[in-house]
Amino acid sequence: MTNKLKYFIGNWKMFGDFGSFNIIHKINQFGYKSRKLNKKKIVLCVPNTLIHFFKKKLRLKHISLGAQNCHPHKSYGPFTGSVNALMLKKAGAEYIILGHSENRLEGETNQIIKKKIISALDKKLNVIFCVGETHKEKIKGRTFSILRKQIRSTLEKKFNINKIILAYEPVWSIGTNRIPKINELINTIKFIKNEFKKTLKIKKIPKILYGGSVNPKNIRLFSSIRDIDGFLIGGASQSSKKFIDIIKNYYK
Ligand code: PGA
Repeated sequence: MTNKLKYFIGNWKMFGDFGSFNIIHKINQFGYKSRKLNKKKIVLCVPNTLIHFFKKKLRLKHISLGAQNCHPHKSYGPFTGSVNALMLKKAGAEYIILGHSENRLEGETNQIIKKKIISALDKKLNVIFCVGETHKEKIKGRTFSILRKQIRSTLEKKFNINKIILAYEPVWSIGTNRIPKINELINTIKFIKNEFKKTLKIKKIPKILYGGSVNPKNIRLFSSIRDIDGFLIGGASQSSKKFIDIIKNYYK
C-alpha cells in the first residue's frame, strides 16, 4: 500500500447537534491510535453551528474541522443569515467545501463559486473545490465539457494551488449508491488534473478526491487508483463506525 498522503474528508451536510461530538471524538481517537500506521489526513466538514463547539470541547489534534459553504463577501456586511470565510476561520475551520452540487442545484454559479474561493483563499482556508456532471450530462456525453467549464470559469492562474484540493463528485453518484466504473473514473481524474494544470499554468500535479456514495464496502475498489488522493464522504461520515471502517478497509 502506498505511503502517499491520503485525505478522508467527511461532509456532514445538514446533520448533527451538540450531542454528535461523540462521533467526532471516536474518529479523533481513531486518528490518534492509527497515527503512525499510514500517512492520512482526516477532516470533518460539519455545520457552522458546531465548528467552534467541537474545536473547544475536544481539543482535536488528530482531525481537522471544515465548513461546507460561505458567503463570498470578505468582510462583515448586510447579508442576513450568511456567514463568510473570515467568520468560519475564526470559529476554527481550516477547510471549506465550495462548489458542492447541492449548492449548484440551488443556483450557485461558477462565478459565485469563484468569488467564494477567492475569499476563502484570502483567509488561508484550504478549499475543497467540487466539480461533477449530472446524469443527463453524462448520458449526452458532455462530462468532459462540463468539467472543463466548471474548472476554467472558476479557477485562475493566481490561485494558490497548495491550498486547493479538487473533488470529483459525479452528481448522479451522490447519495445514490451508484459509483463510476473504475476505468471511467481513472480517465476522468486524469482529465480533471490536466485541465487544472492548464488553467493554472502549472506543472505541479493537483490533489484530487473522489466523492459519491463512498462506503466501507466499495472503498476497496478505489484503493487501486493511485491518482486519487482521497475521498469526500457524505452520508457514511455521519457514523463514526462507517467512517472509520472506510479508512481501515482502504488500507487493508
Ligand atoms: P455521499 O455524499 O457520500 O452521501 O454520496 C458525498 C457528498 O455529497 O459529498
